[in-house]
Amino acid sequence: REFRQTAIMGLRRSATRLVAAGGDPAAKVLGHRPLPDPHPFYDEIRDRGPLYRSRLGFHVTAHHATASAVLRDPALLVLPGAELGSVDWDREPGKPVAHLIEHSLLAMNPPVHTRLRRVVAPWFTPRALRTRTEQIEKTVRGCLDELAHLDEFDLVPEFAVRVPVRVICDLLAVDDSRENDFARWGRIVGGSLDGVRSLTEWRVVAESLREMTEFFTDLIERRRAEPGEDVVSGLIAAQDSEELTARDLVATTALLLGAGFETTQSLIGNGVLALLEHPVQRAALVADPALAGNAVEEVLRWDSPVQMTARLSDKAVTVGGRELPPASAVVTLLGGANRDPEVFADPHRFDITRANARDHLAFSSGAHYCLGAGLARMEGEIALRELFGRYPDLSAAGAARRGPSRTLHGLLSLPVRTGVAK
Ligand code: HEM
Repeated sequence: REFRQTAIMGLRRSATRLVAAGGDPAAKVLGHRPLPDPHPFYDEIRDRGPLYRSRLGFHVTAHHATASAVLRDPALLVLPGAELGSVDWDREPGKPVAHLIEHSLLAMNPPVHTRLRRVVAPWFTPRALRTRTEQIEKTVRGCLDELAHLDEFDLVPEFAVRVPVRVICDLLAVDDSRENDFARWGRIVGGSLDGVRSLTEWRVVAESLREMTEFFTDLIERRRAEPGEDVVSGLIAAQDSEELTARDLVATTALLLGAGFETTQSLIGNGVLALLEHPVQRAALVADPALAGNAVEEVLRWDSPVQMTARLSDKAVTVGGRELPPASAVVTLLGGANRDPEVFADPHRFDITRANARDHLAFSSGAHYCLGAGLARMEGEIALRELFGRYPDLSAAGAARRGPSRTLHGLLSLPVRTGVAK
């Protein structure tokens, strides 16, 4: 049954079909083998035209204008969540039936998507975020203070993960005593977006999903009894009028936590690595900390934390000059679109002063445009500014280790030396 679940989730094509597809660059990009640098394959796909039909049966684009049009086209929907149907969420809270993300905002289409998004949006407006700036600065400085006695530390778990976990816990009004659990759930569940390859792997994912579901079901119950000003209380208050199910609440709250840090940690980790590998750029940031905002845009463009997403056509549509029949799947390679030479001059160059860096699609586009984009930008900017402000001579103390995921591009480890004599 568990195996069937992974199949229904449709996370990836079988390895056999991938192998059979041989020289298909889309198969390489979506396959399971580690791909430290996907950009040569993205370039190859883009060179074949705005929309490439993979021999695996779906279309794929690494062309900025086409990817952007796909993401904005109301006839191209997000893939509906797998309906495994055997558990009544209202009666059996706490029991996961499927990948939580499959039931969150990310996997919903209008009109339910529009309604749910309207409930959550007020916590993410520029005005709401401005009230959080000081708290985020405090969080970042607090994380750095905790590391102040060390000459060397692993930047990923000690800083890149800790900052966004604490920020999102603050937003959800959750105490961060379980930050290690959150980090583990994010790593395991985020990693499974690429698909699971074995029953053993699926069991690990299912166990994390069970723990997450239990945690959020419990949180929602506590917040229902004692409402606050936080986004979870807002969701509960809107439950009846917006006809949200218990599952909608759990899945969306879990998404806010997961999406809130798993991606932002990649932004911070990828950003620090890029700056350490490009000393001229790092020197520019150290000389002018006001460049941190644009540096964040360039990191998002150059090493996008979310490399791809997909849409399914609801009816016949024209994409990249091609007529696609209903039920056509299109994979948009955000990381590839972000290096499209039609939009970005010398696209493989990392340049924190790039004038149009912000034109990237790292936060997607259209109806599902990342709700947390403003928050992530603010966290990234403060984190890079404060880190390099405190440690202008920060250097690598070992090799960076990348995570295995194709969809989420981030680091597992980045040992650094502060360069400050203790
Ligand atoms: C959606 C990227 C940070 C919450 C998305 C999507 C992308 C994305 C690409 C859309 C996927 C699609 O179109 O299929 C990122 C990146 C981040 C980041 C790169 C950090 C650098 C955050 C944060 C939060 C957040 C901090 C919230 C706390 C969400 C939510 C959605 C979303 C709720 C679903 C929106 C919808 O479906 O309407 N994000 N995200 N994200 N993100 Fe983010």
